[in-house]
Order: sequence, then structure tokens, then C-alpha cells
Amino acid sequence: MKIRHNPQSHSFASDNYSGIHPKVLEAIAAANGGHEAAYGSDVYSHALRQKIQSLFGDAANCFPVFNGTGANVLALQALLPRWGAVICAQSAHIQCDEGVAPEYIGGIKLLAVETADGKLTPELIDREAWGWGVEHRAQPLAVYISQSTELGTCYTAAEIRAIAEHCRRLGMKLYMDGARLANAAAFLQTDIKAITTDAGVDMLSLGGTKNGMMIGECLITLQPDLAEAMPYLRKINMQLGSKSRFIAAQFLALLENDLWLQLAQHSNRMAQRLRHAIEGVNGVEITQETQANAVFARLPIAARRALHEEFHFYDWHEPSGEVRWMTSFDTLPEHIDVFVNAIVQACR
Ligand SMILES: Cc1ncc(COP(=O)(O)O)c(C=O)c1O
Repeated sequence: MKIRHNPQSHSFASDNYSGIHPKVLEAIAAANGGHEAAYGSDVYSHALRQKIQSLFGDAANCFPVFNGTGANVLALQALLPRWGAVICAQSAHIQCDEGVAPEYIGGIKLLAVETADGKLTPELIDREAWGWGVEHRAQPLAVYISQSTELGTCYTAAEIRAIAEHCRRLGMKLYMDGARLANAAAFLQTDIKAITTDAGVDMLSLGGTKNGMMIGECLITLQPDLAEAMPYLRKINMQLGSKSRFIAAQFLALLENDLWLQLAQHSNRMAQRLRHAIEGVNGVEITQETQANAVFARLPIAARRALHEEFHFYDWHEPSGEVRWMTSFDTLPEHIDVFVNAIVQACR
């Protein structure tokens, strides 16, 4: 096959612009050959279930899926009745980046709340947590948080616990979008259970694609009763892969010897390197804390344009000149240094 891209190229657009980590690629090859049961009845999927239980507790069940949007829509369907609504941040992936999938495919009403940093609090949740028993209002019965958030910030275990307790008091379920859960765990330097199972989360997604996998995310239920409907919902949401052994094998490679945490730690470190190098550059205003693997900054329009000619990254909020720069498991210090140099030149 002819190689049609530049394998040396690097961008700061998103962590899913990266390729596959060599250990994950090896795992796909190792799981290849011969015939093995389809639809998750294979030996790799069984091993993944055990691994997930060892990380998240004996009550955990796992349901590998293809992508993050599918995971979110499926999870919210499992957590909500037909008349249910989910409270989320205005910046939430389900609100900003999933088209109308939650509304159209899931039939889910979103109640979005403005936040300063992408993080909900019990007080912010209360802005939309009302109207139970009123037949004219979609019933707020779930809360969606992302860890790390779309703005590169992380919830502490205590913050998640406070939200979970609030949800429980109000009869709502708590869902965590963990597309970048590894980055949050690496930043917080905490046991994964402390920010999920032990904090009172009901269901979460565990991201793979953004952290070195080719394809795949994993939905994890943390209470047995939530698992019952999942096989059926996954099927009708078209998220059941017949050759599931290859998704499971990728996760097994990623979770082995904490590779997932090492990759996230590296990616976070590269974001820190970028942030520290551009702090103080004339014209650059950092707009969010850098906790996971994203740097948010405001730039003069001419500088933004000049940088766009050479590098791929996203304008986060065009009118204010805010951009998002993301690092990845394969970002090297040299990539950062070249980019920083270009930022400095563009801001001259
Ligand atoms: C917070 C969050 N959730 C989920 C996703 C995954 O979405 P998908 O795999 O459908 O692109 C992303 C991807 O950008 C994300 O940032």
C-alpha cells in the first residue's frame, strides 16, 4: 500500500489525530488468526471484564463500543426514562459536539448550564434541577460530567463525591464521560476507583481512542441493575461490534502495566511544557487551567492566522480569539519546542 500521509507530521488539533500506540498495534496482531467467538463472547472480552472488575470493583460490568458519541447516547438511554432530561455543562461534548445524536437517536432532553471551567457543582446543577412531578417539564433524572472536561480541567474526588451525593438526594443518576479519564487520573495521581466507584458515579465511559487505541471506548456500569438493559441497548444503538475481540485486545494492552496512565501522564506533561513556554509571551493570554492535555489561550487574530498556515489546531471560540491546543501520547518535547517558537514569531 502506498503511504498517503506524512508519518512525521504532528498537530495540536486533537489527541485523536494521533496514530496507534505500538503495544496496541501488537495486541491487534496477536489477537488475529484463527476463529474466535463473535459479539463479545471471545476470550479477550472475558479477560477485559475481569480487568475492569479489578480496577473498578466486583460490581462493575463492561460494554465495549465503537466511539464516544455512541457511548454517551447509549449510557444516557440506560439511565433515563423516555421523559427524562440530563443536566450538563454548556461546554459538554453531548451539548456541543454530538450533533443532535442525544436528541434524535437517544430522545434525550439536554439541560445545559453555563460554567466557568467546564465543571458542574451542586449549586450549578440546581439551576436546572427542578420541576419534578410537573408534566410539562422534561424530568431532570441524570447529570453528565466529563473527566477530564472539554476545557482540560479535572474534578477532584471530593468534587465528584459532592455531586454524586447531591444527585442521590435528588433522585438523579450520575454519568461520567471518561473519554479522557486517564488524563484526569494521571493529573490527580489517584487510584481510578477513588474518582469513579468510590465517589458514587453510576456509569462511566472509559476512553481508548484518544489514548493510543485505534478504535474503541468502554461503557462501565457500577451497579448490577444498570447492566441488565445494556446488551439490548448497545445492539439497538448499533454499537455492538461483531469482531469485538479486537476492541477488547486493544484495551487489554492499554491497561496492562498501567500503560494507559503512563501515556496520559506523558500527554499531560507535554501540555504543561507548552503552557509554561508560552506564559508571558506578548499577546498570548491563557484562559483555562492546564490540568489534563489541553492548553486554551487567546491570541491576536493575525497571530492565529499565521499559525494556522503551518499547524493544525482548533479555534475554540472564534469571536474572542480563543484556541485549543491538544497534546497526545506521541507528542515529543521537540514538537512543543518547534510550536512554541512559531507562536513567539507569530506574536512579534
Ligand atoms: C469529552 C468527550 N467525550 C466524548 C468524545 C468522543 O467522541 P467521538 O468518539 O464520538 O468522536 C470526545 C471527543 O472529542 C470528547 O472530547
